[in-house]
Amino acid sequence: MKFVHTMFITGILGTAVLSMSSVQGDPLPYKPPIPADNPQTVAKIELGKTLFFDPRLSSTGTVSCNSCHNVMAGGEDNRPNSMGVHGKTGGRSAPTVWNSAFLTVQFWDGRAPSLEAQAKGPVTNPIEMGMKDWDTVIQRLEKISGYEPLFQAAFSGPNPITADNAAKAIAAYERTLITHGSPYDRFQRGEETALTEQQVEGLETFIKIGCFACHYGPNFSGPSMQNQMGKGWFQKFPTIPGSPYETQYKLLDDKGRYEVTGEEMDKHVWRVPTLRNVALTAPYFHNGAVPTLEEAVRVMAKTQLGRDLKDSDVQNLVAFLNALTGEFPKQTMPLLPATPGKSMTAE
Ligand code: HEC
Ligand code: HEC
Repeated sequence: MKFVHTMFITGILGTAVLSMSSVQGDPLPYKPPIPADNPQTVAKIELGKTLFFDPRLSSTGTVSCNSCHNVMAGGEDNRPNSMGVHGKTGGRSAPTVWNSAFLTVQFWDGRAPSLEAQAKGPVTNPIEMGMKDWDTVIQRLEKISGYEPLFQAAFSGPNPITADNAAKAIAAYERTLITHGSPYDRFQRGEETALTEQQVEGLETFIKIGCFACHYGPNFSGPSMQNQMGKGWFQKFPTIPGSPYETQYKLLDDKGRYEVTGEEMDKHVWRVPTLRNVALTAPYFHNGAVPTLEEAVRVMAKTQLGRDLKDSDVQNLVAFLNALTGEFPKQTMPLLPATPGKSMTAE
């Protein structure tokens, strides 16, 4: 059942008037956008998955992408702040990698324009995987002889073991991490009983009070069309200043996109995150400060729409958000190429 009514939202988006008719009520497409210079191949996806699970991409040999983005579960770590090498933690919470292929930009502040660009970051981030630089990573991969045939199969040409190719392979694997078949998607594809009455009420509230103004499109993260890739969809958080949540959850400690651009207008501006599988990804917001979905909904209503919600509205909205939990394609662990007979970290 598609929503047919057109909705115009003014006010909270400043002077912009946004027609929702074209984007409203879309189920998740079966395939995410695939960049022309990184087509999906079976060999590349297999290599990407192997790298994603390989803790030898970290300085200590203990932290893989999967440590913080557990694809056996909701695609993150359910911690307020993720823990990298030597138990170090940063100020931001790990977002899920499920459906990240539908995001127009990556990271809470949108600082990476693509999954390829994103994938290079964590490996050399001192509080994540802590490698000195990508040259060191490549040297290490070259010493694990089992990687050579995997890179050869995925990329043609001499010396295929490069940072760019590793990032492309990881991105290709991430583009397979799509969750279809949520009750909401089944509902949108015509299965009228896929949503409970309460979930339908929650969906109506979501649209009526204006959550949809920011969380729209098939991924509930704004425009995800191919031509928007790399541009991003950002909003201020909090939009309406002065609520007690600001101090309670330290919402103003991190300046968000300002840290990337240095522009005054980007202070406390954040990329609008997906709400798919959000019931599985507590705690909430960029700093992981809000422990429950109920509370996250109250915070959003107050800080973004200036509303104090009734308990019944909160319950309905949470019921609706639970209908965005999809079916997770089964993940099998890759067999990692064997380490040569010496410690990888003794270099
Ligand atoms: C120590 C934990 C940790 C490790 C290891 C880690 N990440 Fe992340 N990841 C994070 C955090 C925290 C963020 C959010 C950081 C930010 O937005 O500033 C993030 C963001 C992301 C995003 C962006 C998702 C979105 O919604 O914007 C993707 C994709 C991602 N990581 C993939 C990876 C890949 C691939 C690897 C391995 C190469 C990896 N991560 C390793 C913690 C980790
Ligand atoms: C003005 C734009 C805007 C509106 C309106 C809005 N949101 Fe958000 N929402 C955001 C932004 C931006 C974030 C990311 C905040 C951050 O940096 O942590 C977010 C985050 C969230 C999160 C946390 C996601 C996570 O992974 O931690 C939830 C849940 C959420 N919104 C639900 C809602 C609901 C429900 C409504 C309506 C009551 C709503 N939002 C209204 C912009 C908006």
